[in-house]
Amino acid sequence: MKGLILSGGTGTRLRPLTYTTTKQLVPVANRPILFYVIDQVVQAGIKDIGIIISPDTGQPVQDQVGDGSRWGVSITYIVQDKPAGLAHAVKTARPFLGDDPFLMFLGDNLIEGGVRTLAQGFAESGADAAILLKRVADPRRFGVAVLDERQQVVRLVEKPKDPPSDLALVGIYLFSPAIHEAIDAIKPSWRGELEITDAIQKLIETGHRVEARILDGWWLDTGKKDEILEANRVVLDAYAVQSIDGVVDEESVISGRVQIAKGAEVRRSTIRGPVVIGAGAVVIDSFIGPFTAVGEGSHLERVAVEHSVILEGCELRDIPRLEDSLLGRNVKVGSGDGRSNAFRLFVGDDSELKL
Ligand code: TTP
Repeated sequence: MKGLILSGGTGTRLRPLTYTTTKQLVPVANRPILFYVIDQVVQAGIKDIGIIISPDTGQPVQDQVGDGSRWGVSITYIVQDKPAGLAHAVKTARPFLGDDPFLMFLGDNLIEGGVRTLAQGFAESGADAAILLKRVADPRRFGVAVLDERQQVVRLVEKPKDPPSDLALVGIYLFSPAIHEAIDAIKPSWRGELEITDAIQKLIETGHRVEARILDGWWLDTGKKDEILEANRVVLDAYAVQSIDGVVDEESVISGRVQIAKGAEVRRSTIRGPVVIGAGAVVIDSFIGPFTAVGEGSHLERVAVEHSVILEGCELRDIPRLEDSLLGRNVKVGSGDGRSNAFRLFVGDDSELKL
């Protein structure tokens, strides 16, 4: 079985971060989401992985992920010329996929427990597709599935106004090569994309068996700012351990699961985990509260922050309280010069500030 990870797309909902990076490289707990995805694909025993990249943002993906040797697998990059839909991505990957069954994993999705059991079950089932579903409160934002009493998929609807069930499609799919013929038979949707839900629906209509499994654990779909913060919270909660490799002075208090990387420095500060602090970061006279990730080389002085993701190279000074925030690379936030209470801003396009 091969793996196909989708790391293309435009990521418009995560601007301005996605002007300079792709959303799959945004770190949660100081590690790109894509790395967790690769971990899960590798844990399912898959050794031959294709990664879909876009012409604009593919290079940093290749630079950071490399040839797969770090995971002991082979990684092939496949450029999708435009983000024309998930089924279009599969079509683009056809030469790589050949006639092998494959696991397709959206590079900004993560699930609890990984995909090993799902992949094994599919290999033994003889079905032509298997999808993963999760019960959600508002199914209107997702692809939604209707099942019969034997858990076979009867129908799929993309972002329904009047949802026929509360079972949303998680971005993880298993396919036999029969999916290629189904993709060849579909037309772009109203939004101009070749939809994978239409291709799966075509499989059902042409008599192929499509199975479903309902996921009980968490599912993270990290397309927007609050979803990144939630992913950071869940991943820190699930994986953070106490490990202090940096320098912490005697006036600092560290409690809970706090990871301080080598070369980081904490002085006269309180850190309450789960928290990760990247290599070379400096924290002085500050409070870092639960569910915060401080990126490599960032400098925080007289700052109180919690439930936030701060990427590399940021400089934060004199901020009495920062919460629920996502700061891109090399962002500077500080107080004014004391002459007036005015805010003085220099922010990029599509930034969002709540003062
Ligand atoms: P989406 O989140 O649906 O789309 P997007 O990345 O363009 O984001 P936005 O809606 O904010 O503009 O895509 C789901 C995943 O699939 C994501 O990891 C990107 C990837 N993808 C591709 O690789 N190729 C594509 O053609 C599309 C549409 C998405």
